[in-house]
Amino acid sequence: MSSTQVNSHAGSQSILKWLTTIKLIKNNPDLHHLVIALNEDKELKTLLNQVSQETSNKILALMFLELKTIHPEYAPYFESLLRIGQSKPNLSLLIQTAQWLSNQPEEFHIHNQKLLEKNELSSSFYKALRLWGDQLILQQAQDQSNIRELYLNELFPDIKNVQVPVGVIHEESHHPNQVDMLYVCAIATVMGAKRIFEFGTYRGQTTCGLAAIAPDVSVYTLNLPPDQDPRYAPYIGSFIKASPYKDRVHQLFADSTQFETTEFAHSMDYVFIDADHSYEGVKNDTIKALEMLKPGGTIVWHDYAAKSPGVYRYIQEFSAERPVFRIRNTCLIVYRDGVSVEQFEPATMLSSLENAEYTPEKQQRAE
Ligand SMILES: C[S@@+](CC[C@H](N)C(=O)[O-])C[C@H]1O[C@@H](n2cnc3c(N)ncnc32)[C@H](O)[C@@H]1O
Repeated sequence: MSSTQVNSHAGSQSILKWLTTIKLIKNNPDLHHLVIALNEDKELKTLLNQVSQETSNKILALMFLELKTIHPEYAPYFESLLRIGQSKPNLSLLIQTAQWLSNQPEEFHIHNQKLLEKNELSSSFYKALRLWGDQLILQQAQDQSNIRELYLNELFPDIKNVQVPVGVIHEESHHPNQVDMLYVCAIATVMGAKRIFEFGTYRGQTTCGLAAIAPDVSVYTLNLPPDQDPRYAPYIGSFIKASPYKDRVHQLFADSTQFETTEFAHSMDYVFIDADHSYEGVKNDTIKALEMLKPGGTIVWHDYAAKSPGVYRYIQEFSAERPVFRIRNTCLIVYRDGVSVEQFEPATMLSSLENAEYTPEKQQRAE
């Protein structure tokens, strides 16, 4: 990283002005020394002058890193400076720095990491700062997006009292959360769904769980005919055959791309999409789910996860037109007809620098 590079990022505030401000705010002796050192050191002053004309807050982290490379003897000052930046009066500055850091290309971080590895203290601070920036950016994207991330009981406050069959848990699921299907049944229960449509039957474990939520529920479940999907053929509907609810389960066999929804138009309270996870597959099933959905109905998608990029890509696209909710710690996406994301506060960050290693309070306790 060169000084020219630093200079090209020039913004609006001089670093010395900023240092002096912090010094005044914190009346910190370390900073006092640093300001003096920076003023007296010719080489440092030259570098600072390069950036002092129009220095944006966002480049502070970069400047500190560069200054540390050139003058490792000042490393502790830069660290204390960054840490002091965490205090409330300069929170916005730190936020900008963290966001800016997170926006840098990976090579930038690899380069800096090598420099920072020599000093464990600043390395962990740097990591925390970057992580925080990532969260802020994600948060910002989330605030502006039509996808709201919520805990299940935030979207369905009454769900705490709902009873669902534990038998729907997929123990062999490769998902981090094995209880997704419990949630699928719990949502259907809390919504009082009576007519349910499922894309993708497989063994029929979830199908039976959905049929079990109430004695007057009918479940329609669609799967490729076994001869069109030899992988799943031996297992299709195996749970249904042995289920006490089999009379209320209607197995349909068709490729969902060929499936006609006319017979079911606007008649379903609840649609669960869990068949072909390709972008085209999810798109087809979603369009058909909307055709079948009653006003006020609910659609749930499974596998909104890294292993199913098609689902992820389609949901991003779908959310440009309709609001959806991602249930935290699951692979589930929920659409509720008539419910918008604005009705819910954007989620608070799961963690922030305030929980990280170098909070001013922890620092004070350590001193
Ligand atoms: C992930 S499994 C379904 C799991 C099931 N919902 C459960 O919770 O146990 C996906 C199923 O979708 C079926 N499938 C895949 N592509 C399909 C398509 N185009 N039309 C209908 N079914 C399809 C597969 O045969 C497979 O049984």
